[in-house]
Amino acid sequence: MCAMPGNPNRAGGLEAPSVRAGRFTVSVQVNGERREGDVEPRTLLVHWLRDTLGLTGTNIGCDTSSCGACTVLVGGESVKSCTMLAVQADGAEVTTIEGLADGERLHPVQQAFWENHGLQCGYCTPGMVMAAVSLLAEHPHPSEEEVRAGLEGNLCRCTGYHNIVKAVLAAAGATAAARVAS
Ligand code: FES
Ligand code: FES
Repeated sequence: MCAMPGNPNRAGGLEAPSVRAGRFTVSVQVNGERREGDVEPRTLLVHWLRDTLGLTGTNIGCDTSSCGACTVLVGGESVKSCTMLAVQADGAEVTTIEGLADGERLHPVQQAFWENHGLQCGYCTPGMVMAAVSLLAEHPHPSEEEVRAGLEGNLCRCTGYHNIVKAVLAAAGATAAARVAS
């Protein structure tokens, strides 16, 4: 029998997700909504998000864990969701690109990408935005070098990165201004 490690995301400490007929029942807070379902032990988080929950804003751009197109936030930290099993997210809070905007109002990082032409084809953009959100949460006032280093796990085949970095720096400025104004 396949032994799954207990999940530290579960309230109350290490506790394995329940198993039924070789499948695991997971319960994950996704974009503020509790989502539950049975998954195979091998199901990757990215596949559960896209194929089961229909959250197709999270893209798959490689099979080598190197492009970052699949980046989401798990417990506020950016994670390449192709490198994590769905069962490992059991009990966690997951945010995808669909969970960032507040109704019609874009998240400041999305707004900055829009205003600074931080995308062309847009395929890498959800992952870039999620990585940038995580970066700015950790480093609200990054230098250009810190932005470039923080996003080095995310590849863009179109932009040459200049406008992406510009957008992240603009988002940092906008967020700081909003904090001063509030
Ligand atoms: S699809 Fe996850 S890193 Fe490329
Ligand atoms: S905008 Fe096309 S891959 Fe980044």
